[in-house]
Amino acid sequence: MSLRRVLRMGDPQLLQVSEPVRNLDSPELLELLADMRETMAALSGAGLAAPQIGVPWRIVIFGTGVPNPRYPEAEIVPATVLINPQLQPLGEQMQQDWEGCLSVPGMRGLVPRYQQLHYRGVDEQGRAIDRRVSGFHARVVQHEVDHLDGILYPMRMTDMSQFGFNEELFPGQGLEDE
Ligand code: NI
Repeated sequence: MSLRRVLRMGDPQLLQVSEPVRNLDSPELLELLADMRETMAALSGAGLAAPQIGVPWRIVIFGTGVPNPRYPEAEIVPATVLINPQLQPLGEQMQQDWEGCLSVPGMRGLVPRYQQLHYRGVDEQGRAIDRRVSGFHARVVQHEVDHLDGILYPMRMTDMSQFGFNEELFPGQGLEDE
């Protein structure tokens, strides 16, 4: 298990479309997931997608089951491994809220996302995941799965005046170092 370097916006690998995982029961997959968990935890991430550490597979992890210091107001999301995800918005309602990304360190932006989401996929043991979620949970899944299609949150923004550095947007809230 090792801490991996998170690629930052500008690295062309973040713009690639990742490949489906075909072999679930591989040692490589388990090692990758261990590295992803360690890296996400070290950086207090809300989630992490495999391409963020340079692995072009359709794998995201998110949630910890406890409150996240980077998003102290957000609801608790269960610790999840989601492989080969499929997303379907439930309804057309969108909601704007602040997002950050470990690949865009020190910044936040106001991003529109679907309010209600149905998502499916499998975990590392091939067990089906099938959830209907809303709010922050739905937002995190949309953000992470976008990474698998080479999309970073600034590419989803509709008002670039609402993009900036944490220190300026949220002074005194302890978000400066992320
Ligand atoms: Ni991200």
